[in-house]
Amino acid sequence: MKYKDTKIIKIDDGNVECYKLNVPADILKSGGLVAFPTETVYGLGANALNEEYVSNIYKAKGRPSDNPLIVHIAEISQLDNLVSETPQNAKKLMDAFWPGPLTLIFNKSNNVPNNVTGGLNTVAVRMPRHKIALDLIKKANVPVAAPSANTSGKPSPTDANHVIEDLMGRVDVIIDGGQTGVGVESTVLDITCDPPTILRPGGVTKENLLEVLENVNFDPALKDAELAPKSPGMKYTHYSPKASVKIVCGDLKNIPNRIMKEYNKLTNENFNVGILCTEETKNYYEIDNNKKLVIGDRSKPETIASNLFKCLRKFDTIGVDIILTECIEEKGIGRAVMNRLIKAAGGNIIIV
Ligand code: TXA
Ligand code: MG
Repeated sequence: MKYKDTKIIKIDDGNVECYKLNVPADILKSGGLVAFPTETVYGLGANALNEEYVSNIYKAKGRPSDNPLIVHIAEISQLDNLVSETPQNAKKLMDAFWPGPLTLIFNKSNNVPNNVTGGLNTVAVRMPRHKIALDLIKKANVPVAAPSANTSGKPSPTDANHVIEDLMGRVDVIIDGGQTGVGVESTVLDITCDPPTILRPGGVTKENLLEVLENVNFDPALKDAELAPKSPGMKYTHYSPKASVKIVCGDLKNIPNRIMKEYNKLTNENFNVGILCTEETKNYYEIDNNKKLVIGDRSKPETIASNLFKCLRKFDTIGVDIILTECIEEKGIGRAVMNRLIKAAGGNIIIV
C-alpha cells in the first residue's frame, strides 16, 4: 500500500477551534481519508456518496469488503438522500437518541454506493454527539462513511495515539481530539423488522431503548455462534490484542481465586500473564502492579466501557502473552462490554 504523509491536527475537544477543521473537511469532501473522534470511538471517514473514495477505507484498514460501514450525518435533513423510507418508530428513536451512540438500519436509497453497504439493501446511519465529528461533517457538507479507525481485527481506538499506531502513513489526516467518552461503539439497531432488533449492543442500552419502544429483540446470533449474525461485521474475530484473552465468569466471589490459580499455572509455564480486574477486586491479586490493570468500577459500569479498549491495547504495550479477565455483569452497557470481551477471547471462557 502506498504510504501517505499523514497530517495530525490537534484540537481541544472542550473548546473546538472550528477553523482547524477547514482543511480536513476539504480533504474529506474531495476524496481523502480523515480519522476523527466521536463520543464512542475514533472513526475513519470518507465521503459516503463516492464509491471510489469509500473503497480507500477498506484498503487502509484491511477490512473485508462484505462488512458494511456506518454513514455519519450531522443534520436530520441529510437522512432523506440516504434512505428509501423512514419507518414510524425511527422518528421517535432519532428524537430520543440522536445525536448519540445509536446506529439505525434503514432500507437504502439508490444514492448510497454498494461498497458502503457491503452489497446489502439496507444502510446504517448515525448522528454522532461529539462536537468535532458534527462540525467536521457539517463543514464537509457530505455524509461520512466511517468504520472504527483501527486496523481490522484490533481493538477499536479510543485515543488518537491508538489511531496513530494503526493508521499512520495510511490516511490523510488524523484529528487528535483526546480520549473518547463512551469507549464502546454505537448500538446497531435494525428498524426494518418488527420488533426492532439489536444487532450489536453498544452505547445506548436495551433498557434505554425500551423507554421509547414497546419491544426490542437481540439478534439470537449474539448468543449462538452457530447462527449467522444479521450484522455482517459481527461474524469476524474482533477487538483482539496480540495477547490471547481468557475470561473467568460466574459468581464474583469465586472469580479472583480461580484467576490467581490460572495465573500461577501459566506463569510457571513461562507465560507472561496480565490480569484485568476491577476496583472492587484489585486487592485480591497480589502480583506485580505492572501486570494488573483496573478496568473500572463495577458500581459505575460506564467507567468499564470507557477503559476497555485502552486496557486491551495497554497489555500489548506491556507485552503480555495472555490476559486473564473477570467477567462483567451483563446488563446495561455491561452487555456491550461482555460482547467485545467474548469476541476478543474468541469464546475462551472458564465458568466458576
Ligand atoms: O460507534 C460506532 O459505531 C463507530 C463510530 C466511528 O461511529 N463506528 C463503528 O463502525 O463501530 P464499524 O464499522 O467498526 O462497525 C459497524 C458495524 C459492523 O458490525 C457492521 O457489520 C454493521 O455496523 N453494519 C453496517 N451496516 C449494516 C447494515 N446495513 N446491516 C447490518 N449491519 C450493518
Ligand atoms: Mg470496528
